[in-house]
Amino acid sequence: MAKTVSEAIEYRRSVRKYKQNCIDEEKVKKCIENATLAPNSSNMQLWEFIHVTDKNTLKKIAHSCFNQNAATTSENMVVFVARRDKWKSRAKQNLNFLEDLFEKQSKQGIDVTKRRNLSRRYYKKIMPTIYSDFFGIVGVYKKILSMVIGLFRPIYREVLYSDLKVVTHKSVALAAQNFMLSMAEIGYDTCPMEGSDTKRVKKILNLPRKAEITMIIACGVRNDNGIYSPRFRVPFDEVYKKI
Ligand SMILES: Cc1cc2nc3c(=O)[nH]c(=O)nc-3n(C[C@H](O)[C@H](O)[C@H](O)COP(=O)(O)O)c2cc1C
Repeated sequence: MAKTVSEAIEYRRSVRKYKQNCIDEEKVKKCIENATLAPNSSNMQLWEFIHVTDKNTLKKIAHSCFNQNAATTSENMVVFVARRDKWKSRAKQNLNFLEDLFEKQSKQGIDVTKRRNLSRRYYKKIMPTIYSDFFGIVGVYKKILSMVIGLFRPIYREVLYSDLKVVTHKSVALAAQNFMLSMAEIGYDTCPMEGSDTKRVKKILNLPRKAEITMIIACGVRNDNGIYSPRFRVPFDEVYKKI
């Protein structure tokens, strides 16, 4: 029987040593498909998932992950990449999808005028305002503007180049968690790794300069000594605040 979400969360651990020849690449691919269903900022989907199965490439990436055990013993790796640079095409794809939807709905007699105008404004004006920048200079101008307007009413403040970096990586990290829980559901294991030389990994994978690696996830099936210690979390009361 398939695991419940809670069971998958309980099962998932960061596994550093894997058995060999245990995983089916197609099943891993299915888990990557689940990753794409993660909630993400403005549905811009500024991400890319590189499923590494080639032995030689795995070896090169493991070297760039400082030959940590999770990397050297993993059967597959998935590189989670933030692609903020794709904002124009992703905004266009969203708008095309919505325009088609509204077209169909208006033929069914549904009044879509308000939603259509809102969507056009969102993906043609607001997204370009947030994502376009020129060496960070426009971002500073937007920040000052948001601070001034913010004195009088609530305003979106994450407009700096560095803020958008966080915005994009947040969404990619949610996709990564979807992936790891999907893997756990089918009894596969993972280890998220940020301990890597991302510049070298980008070079190995032929990724463009503007692509940013959020994390690399090692994949396999846990060896008996694959989990290094019992799970440790600080007391719940220390992190839970009820208001
Ligand atoms: C963003 C991120 C980066 C991580 N990088 C590494 C890493 O480079 N190497 C490693 O062995 N574990 C890495 N981990 C795993 C954490 O050490 C692990 O999640 C934490 O100790 C809690 O253990 P658990 O995942 O088994 O619950 C990383 C985890 C996250 C979320």
